[in-house]
Amino acid sequence: MPPSPAAAADRLLVAGNWKMNGTRALARELAAAALAAARASPSVEVVLFPPTVLLDEVVRAVGPDGDVPVGGQQCHWAPEGAHTASVSAAQLAEAGCAYVLTGHSEVRRELGYDDARVRAAADAGRASRLRPIVCVGETEAERGAGAARAIVEAQVDAVFGSRSAGLEADVAYEPVWAIGTGRTPTVEQAAEVHGWIRARLEAHGAPRSRILYGGSVAPGNIGGFLSQPGVDGVLVGGASLRADAFTALVTAARAAADRRRP
Ligand code: PGA
Repeated sequence: MPPSPAAAADRLLVAGNWKMNGTRALARELAAAALAAARASPSVEVVLFPPTVLLDEVVRAVGPDGDVPVGGQQCHWAPEGAHTASVSAAQLAEAGCAYVLTGHSEVRRELGYDDARVRAAADAGRASRLRPIVCVGETEAERGAGAARAIVEAQVDAVFGSRSAGLEADVAYEPVWAIGTGRTPTVEQAAEVHGWIRARLEAHGAPRSRILYGGSVAPGNIGGFLSQPGVDGVLVGGASLRADAFTALVTAARAAADRRRP
């Protein structure tokens, strides 16, 4: 039985998105490091998003205790059927996932997922009792044109809006221009966007959703992002592929969690 992410809602979240990287050997190494880091830092929830074919390896390596929940990087909106190369939410759940990413900018761009499909994929995830992390973020051109706020709010509204009950899901703010580039917004810029997202989530009856920052998070900058009270965690790509860097991120998140304690 996958652990309940909701039970961990008050902890900072550090999520590693491996994208299309890794072998079974690397998966075992990274999962063991994540498990050790998670156990050393109970105030941090550590989540791994391996490639689908490595899920079984990672689920086995992190064990059944729920110390490191696992998620799928994407799911199809349909429950099953003729969708060659896709994976369903139910299949992810059966594989031991507790989470699913939806709307990552690479999925939007490369697989053609528009807002309607991202919403439907999030709904499919919920139907299989997965907790979606809905990724949103503006391109560099959109930010340059002064449209970041409108873009991000529209992406949040498209998934969380027009519902009779609030969607149980988290959000990752990932400016497209910061993903894999080594560039990031300033801490203040990220906090500003998180504030916009928080207001929309409250308007849509989802006040307990966490809002993560993602895009070139590294051991040297995570402390700045997590110093902002509106930043509930991080979604990490490149730095999650090195055991030492990922461990350093979890340790830094623990320090940030300690600083937040009253
Ligand atoms: P990055 O990727 O940390 O390599 O920038 C983040 C992401 O795409 O989730």
